[in-house]
Amino acid sequence: MNPFILKDYAGPGYFCNRDNETKRLINAIANQRNLTLSSIRKMGKTGLIHHVFHQLGNSKEIDTIYFDIYYTESLSGFINKFGSSLLAEKESFSEKIKRMINSFIRSIRPTISFDSLTGSPTFSFNTENEATGIRTMEEIFGFLQERSLEKPVVIAIDEFQQIANYPENNVEALLRTNTQKLQNVTFIYSGSDKQLLTSMFTDAKRPFYQSTEFMHLEEIPEDEYSPFIKAKFNTGSISIEDEAIENILKLTRRHTYYVQFLCNKLYGSGKEEIDTETVKQIYSDILKENEVYYSEYRDLITKPQWNLLIALAKEEGISKVTTSAFIKNHDLNNTSTVRRGIQSLMDKKMIYKRDTKYFVYDVFFAKWLERL
Ligand SMILES: Nc1ncnc2c1ncn2[C@@H]1O[C@H](COP(=O)(O)OP(=O)(O)OP(=O)(O)O)[C@@H](O)[C@H]1O
Ligand SMILES: [Mg+2]
Repeated sequence: MNPFILKDYAGPGYFCNRDNETKRLINAIANQRNLTLSSIRKMGKTGLIHHVFHQLGNSKEIDTIYFDIYYTESLSGFINKFGSSLLAEKESFSEKIKRMINSFIRSIRPTISFDSLTGSPTFSFNTENEATGIRTMEEIFGFLQERSLEKPVVIAIDEFQQIANYPENNVEALLRTNTQKLQNVTFIYSGSDKQLLTSMFTDAKRPFYQSTEFMHLEEIPEDEYSPFIKAKFNTGSISIEDEAIENILKLTRRHTYYVQFLCNKLYGSGKEEIDTETVKQIYSDILKENEVYYSEYRDLITKPQWNLLIALAKEEGISKVTTSAFIKNHDLNNTSTVRRGIQSLMDKKMIYKRDTKYFVYDVFFAKWLERL
């Protein structure tokens, strides 16, 4: 098995560090403080949640529930995800919980169907109109309340910012009211839209105002990632030069997914010794393989936006984007086109702002743009 995982989580053996973050999350859960976890995309939020749940799972003193609402578009989608995730782990429950679930199914009456591909059961809940939806949701919360009296529960809702896109405008308030009633349930709200999440939790006019502790996930430090990388290559009897590791971490800006991807490719390359030359070679292959996507991006944005994107990629993190030097050096039109361009590229999630600096989101794409 390739030890550089590209999916959510494969166990502690494949997970690099995050010791402090894990401790902080476990402490928040143990003390029933709700927590909001944010980071730029693909930094490792979902992995961290699974890692923490894995540790908690070993203690058997708390029930862990995870669901992701990225693909939900309305309250109804939320309810279905939420309800199903409560029913999904029926197998591992004690008799008492099983009885509770039976009564839950009788009172809320989800429709059970079987996935034609996997054969696993899927549940859908009555959310015919907003009023029944709200009632169903309250019943689900009622069930949760009862269940949490048996054993504390921690619920992670991934991609939580999605609820701000639902057409119903009372979802935040509805969730806040219901979650507040639960004594023995801790929530982790996770998402990548820092601006939106911050405003949900720090805007005094919004329901979730100051209801959680904040945690922002940064890059894994070099002195923790390097030995991890070395050790994983060694398990496959592959030797790697320290300079090559430095190079990997530099070329990927230590952005977790990209580090993992590059290492995965290097591991799978069949080479037994890896030096900086090998890294360069494989990196260049990756950019070539992705080229079709990159040219597609070209059609998604205007010419001035494209030029701005190239300029930002070449600068590798710049804050003063409206100075005449930046505009002149990169042949951009004028301040107001740049301002509009930045906004539009931010909205399209093609760039992100870190502290005061702008970066192209996709690390590999940025390197490809740099060469233009
Ligand atoms: N500490 C870690 N050690 C090794 N691999 C990790 C670690 N954290 C995350 N990964 C890997 O990095 C990739 C991205 O992680 P993950 O999906 O958790 O990020 P995310 O922040 O949830 O991303 P998104 O914003 O897209 O939901 C995954 O392939 C995951 O397996
Ligand atoms: Mg995620």
